[in-house]
Amino acid sequence: MVKPIYVLSGPNLNLLGVREPEIYGRDTLADVQTRVEARAKAHGLSVVFRQSNHEGQLIDWVQEAREAGCALVINPAGYGHTSVALLDALKTLAIPVVECHLSNPAAREDFRRTTYVSLAATGVVSGFGAASYELAVEAAAGLIGPATPQA
Ligand code: DQA
Repeated sequence: MVKPIYVLSGPNLNLLGVREPEIYGRDTLADVQTRVEARAKAHGLSVVFRQSNHEGQLIDWVQEAREAGCALVINPAGYGHTSVALLDALKTLAIPVVECHLSNPAAREDFRRTTYVSLAATGVVSGFGAASYELAVEAAAGLIGPATPQA
């Protein structure tokens, strides 16, 4: 069975579509999930798509992905700028890690320019709205290569 790509979203992303739509767009997280699943399916891959407002929950899922996932896409949202604990969890992974952001944090307030998660990311996709997630899944699929069943 091919392991899924874990796609994790952090705090306040459950409000996607209504939260500051001029920055984050009008797509809901359910819309993003549909697009991401279609993109993964085109590569013969499945997705575990989850969102939490809680740091510890995200860390538990990162640890789960360590064993159960073939790659991790994470939009850490505000925790990217604050969470050493999330960084530490990500550093335990041997699978590719693609950080993704709807907006381009580097073009926003100064405090968004530091992203701890980037220190553990294979690469970063930001600034393309909901398409950032699709591009991140595309990048993850490329990093893991063609989907081959695992023993
Ligand atoms: C975000 C950018 C972060 O700075 C912010 O805290 C978020 C969303 C993005 O997707 O653009 O919550 O990760």
